Amino acid sequence: MGRATWESIPPKFRPLPRRDNIIVSRALAATASESTTGTRTVFCDSLAAALAAAAESKRIYIIGGAQLYNSVLELAASPAGAGLDVRVLMTQVARADGSEIACDTFFTGFVPTQWQKQSHADLVRFLDNEAIEVPQGKVVENDYEFEFTYWTKRTDAN
Ligand SMILES: NC(=O)c1ccc[n+]([C@@H]2O[C@H](COP(=O)([O-])OP(=O)(O)OC[C@H]3O[C@@H](n4cnc5c(N)ncnc54)[C@H](OP(=O)(O)O)[C@@H]3O)[C@@H](O)[C@H]2O)c1
Repeated sequence: MGRATWESIPPKFRPLPRRDNIIVSRALAATASESTTGTRTVFCDSLAAALAAAAESKRIYIIGGAQLYNSVLELAASPAGAGLDVRVLMTQVARADGSEIACDTFFTGFVPTQWQKQSHADLVRFLDNEAIEVPQGKVVENDYEFEFTYWTKRTDAN
């Protein structure tokens, strides 16, 4: 995750449990790594260093924010990222009444024409975890509707 995302998690809830927490930040890069049971917290000054720190992991989840998402997609589209098999798990949120939501952060690196939305069954297969229940289709909660979606890069996209 990027520094802003790390800092947005209240200190009592971080590091996120039962997983390695790898934070990309030039400002925090000198912070010492820590390990507690089932959790390792590592600070890296670049995306490349963060990916190297996670090299042993079967799967790496990039959990934001916008800057880091955009960096990863940029890397994956470049020759240096040729070995990365990037998938996008995206929650699409809208107001139930169709009115606009004011936003201040944008996922500009995601160009929908370059990606193929996959089925709910593919999403469940990808997660490969029976403990996770993923609602299918749009869910309405209070004034909002949301949908969990799964995207793979189109093979004919550059
Ligand atoms: N909807 C979502 O999925 C989601 C997920 C997470 C967060 N968020 C929200 O998004 C907002 C944060 O987004 P953001 O784009 O401002 O923050 P961000 O990507 O979490 O953090 C930005 C900072 O991370 C470091 N960073 C990011 N990419 C880097 C790279 N390639 N190389 C080196 N350092 C890099 C830099 O830290 P330094 O300045 O220290 O160098 C940069 O200033 C928060 O409001 C958060 O709550 C949303």
